[in-house]
Amino acid sequence: MCTDCHTAHAVQRVTNPNDRKQLTAEARQRIPQTCARCHNAIFEKYKKSVHGAALLENINPDVPTCIDCHGVHNIGDPTTAAFRLKSPQICAKCHTDPARMSKYGISTQVLTTYVADFHGTTVTLFEKQTPDAQTNKPVCYDCHGIHDISRVDDPQKGLEIKQNLLTRCQRCHPDATSNFPDAWLSHYIPSPEKTPLVYYVNLFYQIFIPALLGGMTVLVVLDAARRIYEKAEGRKGKGEGRYAKMKDEAESSKS
Ligand code: HEC
Ligand code: HEC
Ligand code: HEC
Ligand code: HEC
Ligand code: HEC
Ligand code: HEC
Repeated sequence: MCTDCHTAHAVQRVTNPNDRKQLTAEARQRIPQTCARCHNAIFEKYKKSVHGAALLENINPDVPTCIDCHGVHNIGDPTTAAFRLKSPQICAKCHTDPARMSKYGISTQVLTTYVADFHGTTVTLFEKQTPDAQTNKPVCYDCHGIHDISRVDDPQKGLEIKQNLLTRCQRCHPDATSNFPDAWLSHYIPSPEKTPLVYYVNLFYQIFIPALLGGMTVLVVLDAARRIYEKAEGRKGKGEGRYAKMKDEAESSKS
């Protein structure tokens, strides 16, 4: 009830008096403790996560607190198919924002690259067409964790450590062996340094396909033009057209 979160006689200010849409920094920092009164196990995990540590230790306003992902007075069930399918957008709100991410040197390409790969493509398609359907493809939190998200270079839990990543893949790909994640580009955009083979094969097709189709088009157009021209020439009488003359000249010069 209202008083569980706001107290009865000690109600504290939550919004900035000059801008009612903005929470004060202190109010934001208080939120996890408010929820922790009843959701303590989750709070304990969140506290140690990359997001929670930044909020609770440094009053960092850039990281999500409970309500950025769950809402406040409209908290819904986060285990539904619909919540799962739209969850990448919750993460993307901050993780594609260059102003927010540049301070930490974190890539803002994580959504684009996720959507470009086989997992994300399917999740995005489901979200648009059947938002209530269960999906067995991973969303951001299947790999990164939910309340216990850590830095990717964390020496214990980070996903840059192959074994940690493999454990995540194996939840859905139980037969995956240690080099299985190598078959996947992660959040990287193909580049000559990181994934030269993929990069150059892509580049080859980027040049080869337009060149091939362009060449075919030119060939067909030239061929058609010549046929039409010859037909028109032919109507004037055999051997009288400019083409026929050129052909005669060519033959006589050869002999
Ligand atoms: C689960 C905890 C929780 C409950 C229950 C809750 N609130 Fe809140 N409330 C919050 C948090 C956290 C904020 C600050 C976040 C925000 O304003 O978006 C807030 C903000 C507010 C605000 C100021 C900002 C705004 O949205 O207008 C008011 C007023 C408010 N609550 C009133 C209420 C009333 C009245 C009830 C009961 C009908 C209630 N709250 C129930 C957690 C709660
Ligand atoms: C970065 C986004 C994010 C933040 C921050 C976050 N959660 Fe969650 N939470 C989720 C997602 C996603 C799920 C759904 C997980 C699932 O599918 O099981 C979830 C599930 C839950 C659940 C229900 C399922 C369960 O595990 O019992 C509760 C309760 C919950 N969160 C409370 C909290 C509280 C309290 C905080 C703050 C201390 C918090 N969350 C912070 C994303 C978040
Ligand atoms: C007074 C205790 C209490 C407080 C404080 C509280 N919750 Fe809950 N919350 C519950 C209970 C109990 C449930 C389970 C309700 C049910 O399953 O019917 C729940 C369920 C949830 C769920 C899962 C909803 C679902 O349908 O599965 C989420 C998410 C959640 N709470 C988030 C929060 C957040 C975020 C805060 C802080 C802003 C918060 N709660 C504060 C008691 C609390
Ligand atoms: C299939 C697993 C998987 C999914 C799904 C996934 N990630 Fe990642 N993510 C990774 C791995 C692995 C890395 C570490 C890449 C590296 O540095 O080698 C990473 C790195 C990151 C980083 C750190 C980037 C940096 O510059 O340090 C962020 C932020 C991130 N992911 C967010 C997301 C978001 C947001 C989504 C959903 C839109 C998502 N991830 C989906 C596996 C995944
Ligand atoms: C309210 C904004 C916000 C939301 C929402 C958010 N993040 Fe973050 N996230 C941040 C910020 C800011 C940092 C950097 C914190 C730091 O380094 O102190 C961060 C850090 C991270 C990192 C660590 C990157 C590294 O340095 O290795 C990962 C992974 C990550 N977030 C994943 C996610 C995922 C997955 C979700 C969705 C479930 C999500 N985030 C939702 C703001 C957000
Ligand atoms: C939540 C479950 C889940 C997780 C976690 C997961 N995957 Fe997948 N993955 C799938 C599903 C389902 C498909 C089939 C996609 C389709 O056909 O649309 C798939 C397809 C693939 C494919 C393409 C296979 C093919 O036949 O085209 C590769 C490669 C792959 N995953 C790699 C990974 C890697 C690497 C990881 C760990 C970093 C991972 N997956 C984590 C569910 C998952």
